[in-house]
Amino acid sequence: MRSLYLRLPILLLLVWLGLALLVSSAHAAVPNNRAEPAYAEEQTILQAEKDDRAPEPGLASAHSGRVHVDRHYLGQYGANEGIVLVQRGGNTWRVWRNGPIATAAGTILVLVLLAIFAFYRVVGPARTDAPDTGRRIQRFTVWDRAVHWATAISFLALAITGLIILFGKKVLLPLFGHDVFAFLAYVSKYVHNFVGPLFIVCSVVMFFTYLHRNFVKRIDWQWVKQGGGLVTHKHVPAGFFNAGEKAWFWLGVTLLGIVMSVTGLVLDFVNFGQTRYIMQIADTLHLVGATFYIAAAMGHIFIGTWGTPGAYEAMRHGTVDESWARAHHAVWYEEVQQGLPPGSLDDRLPPPGEPPGGGPAGGPAGGPGPRPRPAH
Ligand code: HEM
Repeated sequence: MRSLYLRLPILLLLVWLGLALLVSSAHAAVPNNRAEPAYAEEQTILQAEKDDRAPEPGLASAHSGRVHVDRHYLGQYGANEGIVLVQRGGNTWRVWRNGPIATAAGTILVLVLLAIFAFYRVVGPARTDAPDTGRRIQRFTVWDRAVHWATAISFLALAITGLIILFGKKVLLPLFGHDVFAFLAYVSKYVHNFVGPLFIVCSVVMFFTYLHRNFVKRIDWQWVKQGGGLVTHKHVPAGFFNAGEKAWFWLGVTLLGIVMSVTGLVLDFVNFGQTRYIMQIADTLHLVGATFYIAAAMGHIFIGTWGTPGAYEAMRHGTVDESWARAHHAVWYEEVQQGLPPGSLDDRLPPPGEPPGGGPAGGPAGGPGPRPRPAH
């Protein structure tokens, strides 16, 4: 029954996509199959502008749409763009999107991947120094895990399909040819458009489910000052979540979640009168947000799996070994021992020289485990 509950997110996703198939507008298609793309006309117009009093520098230049973007911004066309045949600001967007933005996004993602790999080889994983005790502590409820996996799976679906939309033409088309790429691009766009709103719902539920364990406390500052002991392998005492996890919650899940949701909705629902100018800005912000969100998610996935042995089991099965809890979240471990809710002891800074958590940092790593403290 429990494992069925945990498979619910995947089931829901499949049902959602199945239902989406029934929506006719989901099937993006050229309304008139014999319609010619406006590309040639656009080139002609841009060429003609070279003779104008305010010449445009040409199709390949990001500046070619500058004048037009300004005019567009001033509302040249009014609320309805129905009469616009060629929007030259689109050229500025295309040149930037296919050029510097795609290059920067790709470079950042590859560099982050390499940095994680190098970190793993040089520094290695954050292990607990004491052997497992065999005694398990409940860390995440079934609800916590279902919400986490629903958000994570929809995020992965968006990240993979988004990257195919962005880089597919450059990377997949030369590799697999037109037939395979056309299929992948179609499926990606379709999945992305429908999983987007689902991801927003998951993110909102995730925010409220995890909020109370992510309030920033004084103890988090100690963790930041010591760099979380990431490089030194020191187990810096932390509450239920450490400052790094809280940063992921506030800057990733919350801030980037809002950026991706708002810009994604502007791109997804084109029938609310937003002009193409607004959509070009939204797409650019969406791309910048996606780059940072995917980069941060790679770090999160690494730390939650190979980087911290035992962490994945917590999210998979809900429990951790006592020794793991003592090493990585000493203050939370003490709260569990005393039957206190998470966060109760976070702000009780210890006497100088003694880390929060009652004992030497990391419990078994540095000596005896945490001392019981009187509950407040
Ligand atoms: C947080 C996870 C998300 C990531 C990593 C992501 C990533 C991306 C990427 C990389 C692109 C390609 C942009 C381009 O090629 O110019 C894209 C496009 C798009 N995204 Fe997202 N996105 C996310 C969330 C969302 C959400 C929540 C929505 C909607 C509610 C959404 C809707 C769209 C739409 C409509 C497009 C344009 C697709 C097209 O070209 O037709 N995205 N996304």
